[in-house]
Amino acid sequence: MEKIVEIKCIKHRYPDNTEVSACGLDLVVEKGERVALVGLNGSGKTTVFSHIIGLLKPTEGEVSVFGVDPYHDFESIGKKMGVVMQSVEDQLIGPTVLDDIRFSLLNYGFSEKEIADRTKEVISGLNLKGLENKVIHYLSGGEKKKLALAGALALHPDLLVLDEAFNQIDPRGLSAATKMIEYQSERGMAVVMAVSNREDLEHFDKVYFLQSGKIVFGGTREEFLSSDLKNEFCQHERQ
Ligand SMILES: Nc1ncnc2c1ncn2[C@@H]1O[C@H](COP(=O)(O)OP(=O)(O)OP(=O)(O)O)[C@@H](O)[C@H]1O
Ligand SMILES: [Mg+2]
Repeated sequence: MEKIVEIKCIKHRYPDNTEVSACGLDLVVEKGERVALVGLNGSGKTTVFSHIIGLLKPTEGEVSVFGVDPYHDFESIGKKMGVVMQSVEDQLIGPTVLDDIRFSLLNYGFSEKEIADRTKEVISGLNLKGLENKVIHYLSGGEKKKLALAGALALHPDLLVLDEAFNQIDPRGLSAATKMIEYQSERGMAVVMAVSNREDLEHFDKVYFLQSGKIVFGGTREEFLSSDLKNEFCQHERQ
């Protein structure tokens, strides 16, 4: 299979000297796979994602996305990636919902017809109808998450990078979002999402578990859920 993302023992030192690492097993995301990176708060998931999307450069270790180093060569791979960051406020541009979805499509040079088709597709697919002309600042938290997802999915990316993207989305919105993600992943899109709650795991085939600076597990969701490690992640389910 084609490796879309490969991370080999990365370490990152933040300016305040906090060291975060993801060593142990290599993290690999292949074409068409849906992969969850699971870990407790502060375990380093967002740090790993910031390396995948080229925002951070590792102090040590290797990151490869579509075969290149995303920190140095983001321009050559950016068009293939859809991203939803943990704090969506940082990525929404607006001023309106419609403008926001159109922005990246325009930037990447899609035709007006293609932009109109894709915008319509994600607005109806994610239940954002009626909000097209709303100023993004006034959207609710869940609406902002759905808008960020809409912007990412409108690109029909080969890699969808989601950092806790399902938080705040209600069950109806979640079912719409996962349907759209499933549809695109069946056509080859790879998905990697940071997950810190048990419920979100059901949408993923493969799980990596990041604990104390190490990727200590990599395998199918079923293997993870039947392993002892699951208890370290979902302690409340022990009883
Ligand atoms: N910009 C930064 N400067 C200094 N330390 C940071 C910075 N960003 C993250 N950290 C620290 O790095 C560690 C890992 O943080 P990270 O955000 O990657 O965790 P996470 O697994 O995504 O957590 P959560 O589940 O809460 O989103 C934490 O101890 C955090 O305090
Ligand atoms: Mg995080």
